[in-house]
Amino acid sequence: MKERVVTRDGSHTIAIREKEVMYHSIHGAIRESVHVFIQSGLAPVAARLEKPALAVFEMGFGTGLNAFLTAIFALEKKIAVAYTTVEPDPLSAEETSALNYATKLGHAELFRQLHTSPWNETIKLHDGFTLHKVQTTLSDFSPSQTYDLIYYDAFAPSAQPELWTKEAFEKMFSLLSPGGVLVTYCAKGVVKRAMKAAGFRVKKLPGPPGKREMVWAEKA
Ligand SMILES: C[S@@+](CC[C@H](N)C(=O)[O-])C[C@H]1O[C@@H](n2cnc3c(N)ncnc32)[C@H](O)[C@@H]1O
Repeated sequence: MKERVVTRDGSHTIAIREKEVMYHSIHGAIRESVHVFIQSGLAPVAARLEKPALAVFEMGFGTGLNAFLTAIFALEKKIAVAYTTVEPDPLSAEETSALNYATKLGHAELFRQLHTSPWNETIKLHDGFTLHKVQTTLSDFSPSQTYDLIYYDAFAPSAQPELWTKEAFEKMFSLLSPGGVLVTYCAKGVVKRAMKAAGFRVKKLPGPPGKREMVWAEKA
């Protein structure tokens, strides 16, 4: 059963008790997503990109928080992002409409549209943001394009070890354009070794509250 939880910055996350997983850190869902995916991933990659639109791929759409923060960033910085995400187990409309992200960040209509947009189609949500949600697992996802940036936001290795293997990262490596970057909150040794074995150049960055480190992995 999915349960809404208030994290330490006051923003919600979802917990699945029987699987012992949470969608974000208890130290702050918005704080963690902003730190790991926006400030440590999107901002530096967008700053160095020389194309009109940045192609972002997210592993695990979930609450839509990373997509929401990215759409707001694109609006505020006047950049263009083409956002693709996969999710095999979407939250219900009841669950997503109870999340307090728009109360905290504004842009309520944008947040609503992230969740009401159809699956498996590319939808323009504003001039600088298109959304393509694919209802599938990562292993069944085989796009015909590559991406500049991957948000790797799977459940922790203790819950889903198969998503943190050399094979999983080889797939992510193949989905990246040359020079592309994958960021993730997990900096466990076994994960960094799997990334390196898949061909990534791996760098540790300071983690969000409650985590010493996070990972920046580059297809150098
Ligand atoms: C840690 S949560 C993060 C969700 C989201 N990024 C957010 O901010 O709410 C992991 C997400 O991955 C999804 N997921 C689980 N197994 C998956 C798989 N095999 N392929 C793709 N997504 C998966 C889960 O349903 C969940 O939404």
